Amino acid sequence: MRSSTVRCFIIFTLLLLLLQGHATTHKLLSSPFSTALETLQKQLGYTFKSTDLLRRAMTHASFSEENNKAFAILGATVIETSVSFHLLSKDVDISPKELNHRLSQITNVDSSCAVDGTRLGLHKIVRVSPKTNSSAPAVVCGAFRAIFAAISIDSGMPDNAGNVFWNLHGGELGSAVAI
Ligand SMILES: *[C@@H]1O[C@H](CO)[C@@H](O)[C@H](O)[C@H]1NC(C)=O
Repeated sequence: MRSSTVRCFIIFTLLLLLLQGHATTHKLLSSPFSTALETLQKQLGYTFKSTDLLRRAMTHASFSEENNKAFAILGATVIETSVSFHLLSKDVDISPKELNHRLSQITNVDSSCAVDGTRLGLHKIVRVSPKTNSSAPAVVCGAFRAIFAAISIDSGMPDNAGNVFWNLHGGELGSAVAI
């Protein structure tokens, strides 16, 4: 009699723990930040093996010691390499002046980088401190560039990241070149 009550209690407790565990896991998987990262990967057309890299890319220095600052440096280089490569592939006779002009356009924070980032909705995703404006061009731009470092590291190949950038931005650049 007594032992069956105990058994009942144990089973009940175990069930409760299981349910709780399930609820916690579910909550973790579907936090707004995680959902936003899922959507972002679809927009990019790239699925991360290690989502932590994308998390870091979407973390501003004001939010955490683990942030996207160094990623943004590599990302800027990936973007420049991709643009130089594609423009030269299209026209080996492009003048250095023209090439530099295109590169300075693409690396402009306000007119290019922040625009691309805002179009992806990064200002709504990037994690910042409460005092930081996540729509500030420097913040959006840093997050945008950091994406391409994250893809480079995740895939082990900067070329993959360059192609993702080119697919996102290339159409526009093509028309700019044609003008
Ligand atoms: C945040 O930055 C954006 C873009 O520069 C600006 O339009 C907006 O007014 C800023 N918001 C605040 C609260 O400062």
